[in-house]
Amino acid sequence: MAKKIIKKRSWAEPFKIKMVELLKMTTPEHRQKAIAAAGYNTFLLKSEDVYIDLLTDSGTNAMSDRQWAGLMLGDEAYAGSKNYYHLETAVKKFYGYKYLVPTHQGRGAENILSKCLIKEGDIIPGNMYFTTTRLHQELAGGIFEDVIIDEAHDSSNLHPFKGNIDLNKVNALIKKYGATKIPYICVATTVNMAGGQPISLENLKALRKLTEKHGIKIILDMTRVAENAYFIQQREKGYANKSIASIVKEICSLTDGATMSAKKDALVNIGGFLAVNDKKVFEEARNMVVIYEGLHTYGGLAGRDLEAMAIGIEESLSDDHMAARVGQVIYLGEKLMEAGIPIVQPIGGHGIFIDAKKFLPHVKQAQFPAQALAAAIYTDSGVRTMERGVVSAGRKANGENYFPKLELVRLTIPRRVYTQAHMDVITESIEHVYQNRKKIKGLEMVYEPKYLRFFQARFKPI
Ligand code: F0G
Repeated sequence: MAKKIIKKRSWAEPFKIKMVELLKMTTPEHRQKAIAAAGYNTFLLKSEDVYIDLLTDSGTNAMSDRQWAGLMLGDEAYAGSKNYYHLETAVKKFYGYKYLVPTHQGRGAENILSKCLIKEGDIIPGNMYFTTTRLHQELAGGIFEDVIIDEAHDSSNLHPFKGNIDLNKVNALIKKYGATKIPYICVATTVNMAGGQPISLENLKALRKLTEKHGIKIILDMTRVAENAYFIQQREKGYANKSIASIVKEICSLTDGATMSAKKDALVNIGGFLAVNDKKVFEEARNMVVIYEGLHTYGGLAGRDLEAMAIGIEESLSDDHMAARVGQVIYLGEKLMEAGIPIVQPIGGHGIFIDAKKFLPHVKQAQFPAQALAAAIYTDSGVRTMERGVVSAGRKANGENYFPKLELVRLTIPRRVYTQAHMDVITESIEHVYQNRKKIKGLEMVYEPKYLRFFQARFKPI
């Protein structure tokens, strides 16, 4: 009897396109001038000089017609806007947290949370650092300690949950400093700086057991929680038949609160929040938000933004949306791997991360290989990417550079924005740059801002 061949069906976007934004096509000469004028920093390019923008998945989402309709329902009252109550209902229903404090974006929530929970000299363990998160912890007097598993620092290790926390590292910190010095552990879902790598529910449950014993809170950085839930559904035993929505709710239920940059998973262009279960923490945060963001029922946002966020949260949890979202990222990653480009594996949820140390072995890390590679890719094709290496890592309190093991260029895919043909064009450009990689030289930093230098630093070729 002939063997039945079951071919896996292709994914496709669960939407059709209703409006388009035209892009400018530029020449290599134009791009050479533009990147030099931007000090070889892709953050300093003008967006109109960019063809395909993979700088970030933050605030670059395409909203749905329902979200755009929601903007028209904006209740722009200073206090008690209807849209705030819609958002509060969505946060309770889909994430399960009791109390909500809206903020203009994720770092607004990080600022308030850090000020509420951290005392001078406290230790804040986390599964790899994120730039703004760590800085707010440090500005509040805390000291960040990385407790991610070692595999996360190796770009070719195929561990399915490279965002996991090493419980031995947490135990060692508790032993060294005492639990009272650790107000909370910051747990990120699909760890950005590790290449969009997920944490497993098994690991989160084990962490919960350990921290409960010691009275340590877990605060989730839930910026990309739905993407993490997708990987749990695909990879973790027992979750194949569970919905993204139910997995997200389970993740949140194992934590005491969360900071959210809604500009990512929640499919909006601006917005964020802090959500907690402890009433005392909520009351303090609600009081603090009026100093830094705005009244507690708008948190620096217009009513219409709150409405778009409430709708976006629900849309982000659809299984079809997430299969196409991560499907597109995997499509690009597999094409790059076929072309022999060294990327972080397994492929992450929000983008592809090129290993710049392997791509440019002739450029020393002190000469910013990932920064130089991002500039070269832009010059080749107008594709804008971002450095995630030594420039992003910044300096320690003593002034020394952090030299992270991972020196990466991030190709971040905005949600619902680009087509498969764009992914093909991106691959061809990276392949072309790879063939000519020996010509790429390192950079020297000629201007360095004090905080989050990667946003505004300037460079010149060596
Ligand atoms: N946490 C994570 C994991 C993030 O990726 C970001 C932002 C934030 C917090 C801060 O949120 O930007 O709304 O203030 N990441 C963007 C990026 C900037 O490009 O990865 P925000």
